[in-house]
Amino acid sequence: MCGIVGAVAQRDVSAILIEGLRRLEYRGYDSAGIALIDRNKLERFRALGKVQALADKISPEQAGSTGIAHTRWATHGAPSEVNAHPHFSRDRIALVHNGIIENYKEIREKLFADGYEFESETDTETVAHLIESYFEGDLYSAVHKAVGQLEGTFGLAVIVLDDPDTLVACRKGSPLVVGLGIQENFVASDVSALLPVTNRFIYLEEGDLVVINQKDYQIYGANGEPKELEVNITEMSADSISKGSYRHYMQKEIHEQANAVAECLEGRISENGVLDSVFGPDSDRIFKQVKQIQIVACGTSYHAGFVAKYWIEEILGLPCQIEVASEFRYRKSVVPQDTLFVTLSQSGETADTLAALRNLPLEDYCGSVSICNVPESSLVRESSLVLMTRAGPEIGVASTKAFTTQLVSMLLLIVSIGKARGLDESVIADIVHELRELPGQISELLKLDQQIEAVAEDFVDKHHALFLGRGVHYPIAMEGALKLKEISYIHAEAYPAGELKHGPLALVDTEMPVVVVTPNDDLLEKLHSNMQEVKARGGKLYVFAHQGAKLAETEDDVVIQMNCETRWTTPILSTIPLQLLSYYVAVQRGTDVDQPRNLAKSVTVE
Ligand code: F6R
Repeated sequence: MCGIVGAVAQRDVSAILIEGLRRLEYRGYDSAGIALIDRNKLERFRALGKVQALADKISPEQAGSTGIAHTRWATHGAPSEVNAHPHFSRDRIALVHNGIIENYKEIREKLFADGYEFESETDTETVAHLIESYFEGDLYSAVHKAVGQLEGTFGLAVIVLDDPDTLVACRKGSPLVVGLGIQENFVASDVSALLPVTNRFIYLEEGDLVVINQKDYQIYGANGEPKELEVNITEMSADSISKGSYRHYMQKEIHEQANAVAECLEGRISENGVLDSVFGPDSDRIFKQVKQIQIVACGTSYHAGFVAKYWIEEILGLPCQIEVASEFRYRKSVVPQDTLFVTLSQSGETADTLAALRNLPLEDYCGSVSICNVPESSLVRESSLVLMTRAGPEIGVASTKAFTTQLVSMLLLIVSIGKARGLDESVIADIVHELRELPGQISELLKLDQQIEAVAEDFVDKHHALFLGRGVHYPIAMEGALKLKEISYIHAEAYPAGELKHGPLALVDTEMPVVVVTPNDDLLEKLHSNMQEVKARGGKLYVFAHQGAKLAETEDDVVIQMNCETRWTTPILSTIPLQLLSYYVAVQRGTDVDQPRNLAKSVTVE
């Protein structure tokens, strides 16, 4: 869950590497470091904290034509300068690592006995020494021998003073791309890091090693045989990853949702249905067979899957299971015949979600579908049926537009399965009609921005908050609570409103804000009773009321009216004001909205 970038060029690469790290900062930001080879000198700079702290340490005279750099999300060893990468061995090998080496302790003991000195608590330093122990003039051979002994996951980039124009990188379980320039070549954890310098990329496969120098590159498979991989031209531009006139990426991404949803639907829906081509030519055969659906995901993506479970059972009448990937991957599960496996992931690099897919006994399932936002990701490359959410780059750690486009994508999946299985055409037409209206409705809801900013003031000095929902809005309440806690650090919990009286009601007093989204559905009256239970205990209600769901509120309640009335897309719309609420509470509390403490955007470790 760290970010790595490396370069070999004729020119000074320090600025390229620092810019690359800034673009990878979403992967971790507790410390950063860079190693540069300039003629016969290997130099290293490291700093605790964000990439800017590192940039501040590097003077304009510092230069090097070969270099590696790293932004860290600590796993082994606390965030500190000494644990920051690059790690050195005997002042000639420098290495950056993304992932976890599981057997580092035994390797470390052996290397220690052989006289290697360790300065950090990291698993990574062990790998630097291991490579040094094998180095006899050829960096590729040393790296190849060393990685053969490693258990765990890694994306590695290594340079050596003795061969200053060469960089060796490899991947197993962690993402790594090669970027091809003119008389200069690069590696990075993902393409975004290198967009300012190239649009030509090679996606390394599991176990691959690559040797790059200024003019050339050579890829080797895990067996040591040279291999060739396709060169891809990415359509992403360096500018697509900027804040524009917004204060934070999260704010920009919340406001991009009308467009993101429109993009997600573009070319996929017809007047009254979903186009056949959306999930590829094989999908109709698979969808006809489906009798049950298993969804697996993490965090916000899990919440999208949870909403979809309600839809699937109601619309398709098919049983649906949803589970967090970190549990599913280690559990023996029973797979009923003709189960479709569905994963959701913004990044497509989440270790637990990927492992769940990779360990799947595919023969037990009738097919697998992944819903993802990053076309170049491992999940997309390893899945058979894929639907891209097309939300565009999401940089803020808290997921917003990825979530709403995941929900739209799940409705596209449901309609496609429904179509293959003979679902009533009028239901399909209703859903598609609502999807069509969605971008306009989202734009309208975003006009609540200032009203919600004012409401957020009430939360600034609170320590806890409750989010309540019923039915399909229970996972929306979960998502609202997750958003609030991760960026404002206010403890927030979500409950199905009917569960309140079974315990959490004991927490309700005048200091406990209770957030409720009230759709105008069959459960409205039940929800109303739950809200009375809160009021009777002095709790203050913050109600986001869909059109037609106006309740007999009292002066104490804060009611924000949402002018939309829908049946299927209601949970998507309900998400927007909850995102704005979390955003403004966090801004007013002065937290680091885009890079909240202890978190990272892409969770590539388990
Ligand atoms: C929360 C958030 C995380 C991610 C989770 C899964 O705002 O962003 O909970 O949803 O880490 O990530 P992806 O979707 O990339 O698999």
